[in-house]
Amino acid sequence: MARLLLGVSGGVAAYKALETARLAVKRGHAVRVIQTPASTRFVGAASFQALTGAPVLSDEFERDPDRGRYPGEPPAERTPISHLALAERAEVYLIAPASANTIAKLAHGQADNLLTAAALAVTCPLIVAPAMNDRMYAHPATQANLELLRRRGTVVLPPGEGELASHGEHGPGRLPEPERLVASCEALLSRGAGWAGTRVLVTAGGTREPIDAVRYIGNRSSGRMGFALAAEAASRGADVTVVAAAVTVPAPPGVAVVEVQTAAELQRACDRIFEQSDVLLMAAAVADFRPAQPGLGKVKKGDPPLAPGPLELVLTEDVIAGLAARRRPGQVLVAFAAEHGGDAIAEGVCKLERKDVDAVVVNDVSRPEIGFDAADNEVVILSRDGAQRSVSLAGKERVARAVLDEVQRLRALERTDELQRGGERDGAGRERSRAGAGA
Ligand code: CTP
Repeated sequence: MARLLLGVSGGVAAYKALETARLAVKRGHAVRVIQTPASTRFVGAASFQALTGAPVLSDEFERDPDRGRYPGEPPAERTPISHLALAERAEVYLIAPASANTIAKLAHGQADNLLTAAALAVTCPLIVAPAMNDRMYAHPATQANLELLRRRGTVVLPPGEGELASHGEHGPGRLPEPERLVASCEALLSRGAGWAGTRVLVTAGGTREPIDAVRYIGNRSSGRMGFALAAEAASRGADVTVVAAAVTVPAPPGVAVVEVQTAAELQRACDRIFEQSDVLLMAAAVADFRPAQPGLGKVKKGDPPLAPGPLELVLTEDVIAGLAARRRPGQVLVAFAAEHGGDAIAEGVCKLERKDVDAVVVNDVSRPEIGFDAADNEVVILSRDGAQRSVSLAGKERVARAVLDEVQRLRALERTDELQRGGERDGAGRERSRAGAGA
């Protein structure tokens, strides 16, 4: 049972919002409804009121007679500002149907009615279900607005294709069926609880590639970021295994640790554990090259020149790309890209595609205050659905929280995609969701 806020904007499909509210109540959710003034011309507040057992709000200046209370809850002690109370306490906010006009307002942060104001005030997942005429849906303005929303992490449900409200018109623009709408809300609701029993594989630290018995090629990664991710996942109830490469900081409690040194050892450990994992967080700095023939003992000063010899380098395997190639449906893979200056975001976008992962966490290690061996980090999380989230300079613990929040969102999105396609799940599905709804 969850607190579900349903926003209804103007359109013929508003009648399906009635059934959505009924179904959600039937499934045990506490539903409150906000209508735009235009939507009241299609369906009346009295119907929603009867179905949800709670008052319907439409005007931001109107007082909520229920003081922000959801059905089934005790009466509130004070009278709060109506839209903030309802929005603040919602666990999921579904806007269905979302008209082209409402979508434009949402994309640009306009708050000229209670529905759009609430969208700015919620902290819970926001789901937007567009429904309109097919030409309005296909218009570049609508598509650009939807893209903006997606980039900010809003879940945009692709509309169905078929007969539209205007007589004889056919195409994309139909509101998904109420069962789908409620199921999408439930998929997102499991975000918080979804970690119990989730198996998370984290790689941390930096690999060391031996040149001889005493020397190696390594990097400055300490393992702090990987361990912060592991600690955060464990605190959410996940079963966490860390493959730790030459880390220089202690591991957090409550996680299993597999120690490795080289890229090849890290690859073998990941190969073994990945199959049973649901989430992979690849924070380790894995060497791209290793000495072709490491010296057996200690290479002496007087020995023949090092190259060709122990310093002749060969490429290592791209571990995460290899794992992505044999991922099973539902697994979420996150890569970390430490870029040194240049266009870090563009590089990150390339890596997202090249490695076929769900998200890439990009940071610019040319800045001394962030990145390798520093306590703080500043990152941009690029995701497969086009979302870009910036985490400004913060401790690695906060960055870890943001990364795991994004993984939660991606897992929910994955489930929503599945529901949209009626359970079918394949690589082509990932392509579709990358291209965006209805595209
Ligand atoms: N990675 C990996 N195997 C490698 C190298 C890197 O799995 N042999 C992973 C890292 O753990 C990280 C992601 O790939 O999650 C990006 O690493 P990065 O070094 O930025 O990418 P590269 O593909 O090596 O590209 P570049 O040429 O920029 O180094």
